[in-house]
Amino acid sequence: MTSSQHKGFGTVGVVLATAGSAVGLGNIWKFPYVLGQNGGAAFLLVYIVCVLALGLPVMLSEFYIGKTSHRTILDAFRTIRGNNHWQWMPVISILIAFMLLSFYLVVTGWCIQFLITGTYGGAEADCALWTIIALGLTSLIECAGVEKGIERVSKILMPLLLLLLVVLMIRSLTMPGSMEGVQFLFHPDFSKLTGQVVLSAMGQCFFSLSIGLGCLITYAGYMQREQNLVRTAVQVVSLDTVVALLAGLAIFPAVFSLGINPTSGPELVFRTLPSVFATLPFGVAWEKLFFLLMSIAAITSSISMMEIIVSYLKGATGWARPRRMLVIVPLLMLTAPLCAVSLLPNRPELTWLGLSMFDWMDTLTSKFLMPLGGMAITLFMGWCCSWEKIAEEITNHSHLGPWFVNTLRILVRYIVPVMILFVFFDGIGVL
Ligand code: PHE
Repeated sequence: MTSSQHKGFGTVGVVLATAGSAVGLGNIWKFPYVLGQNGGAAFLLVYIVCVLALGLPVMLSEFYIGKTSHRTILDAFRTIRGNNHWQWMPVISILIAFMLLSFYLVVTGWCIQFLITGTYGGAEADCALWTIIALGLTSLIECAGVEKGIERVSKILMPLLLLLLVVLMIRSLTMPGSMEGVQFLFHPDFSKLTGQVVLSAMGQCFFSLSIGLGCLITYAGYMQREQNLVRTAVQVVSLDTVVALLAGLAIFPAVFSLGINPTSGPELVFRTLPSVFATLPFGVAWEKLFFLLMSIAAITSSISMMEIIVSYLKGATGWARPRRMLVIVPLLMLTAPLCAVSLLPNRPELTWLGLSMFDWMDTLTSKFLMPLGGMAITLFMGWCCSWEKIAEEITNHSHLGPWFVNTLRILVRYIVPVMILFVFFDGIGVL
């Protein structure tokens, strides 16, 4: 897709669309439960270091590659310098997107179920049905073509979500015994910092920022010439981190006040928030609004995952959008409900080495494939792109001096790839 073939987003539109991808279940559902399982404040600190040292450079690299190639992910790695070694990247991206969608749609289904029935069905037999409903909704919206829709939805979604999280945070902080939760979030106990914890923080950073699988390469293909990449990356990263922090502040004070176990895992948010809503006047209305926003945020993120596959197929086959969807949806109809069912206690055939299929998809993508994808993306940017052009693109619109380009070059060539490898091997216990 060349820049003249699509209208592209406006400058603010790209921030909104990218934020629509980044802000999702990763911030509200996954961040609190992973933080809870990994000891609290020490994890938060490592997470923030990962966001600044790894997240920002990887995001900038994806933006640059996507914007300057103005193409689908298939072409992005082909056109810059015509380097053939990188052609396997889109295939890995598609694999990651499929795996992510398979479990992400399950949690999206839980949100929709909570919105409609007011109950959390994580372990219920009908969870496959809600997964299929989530898949159906996402596919319908994706089928209609996404650009303008996501921009518009995010414009309303983001402020409302922030507002609601602030209300929840205030309520949570004023519950009796809530300070223990604040302590848990901000008072680090470094004895809890293991290689596993650091790997989880890095994985969460990649997952939450939607980086390392070329998703933002696809979105940046829609950018206009005048888009300022550095500013856009800083805005998206800041918004994503603020939403995660607000979610943490809305949940942990209440977790401690209500005596819920912070390590309870994927159900933490679904168990905690309804009890907080119950203490508010018009609690049910707040709850419905919250789960509506969470479902929308989940769908805008699912769409960005789907868009990777859809845009790849466009480049590879030239088929119309609905026809491309006919290839993708049946496959997901198989894998996503299987992930949902794998969480049921009577399904040992969907559990391997103690992890359910759902957990495998989550773990393999966040802790392994996306960081390695991020490493490949920064190595590509660092070693295969022209730094003259990068400097021009990056300093042109942001009045940044050569020091910025030099730092970025050292980061993407050496520091980011080495850090990712180090955290990865340390986390799996090789170092
Ligand atoms: N960042 C999204 C979230 O936080 C998830 C996501 C990952 C979306 C990868 C696209 C690609 O929920």
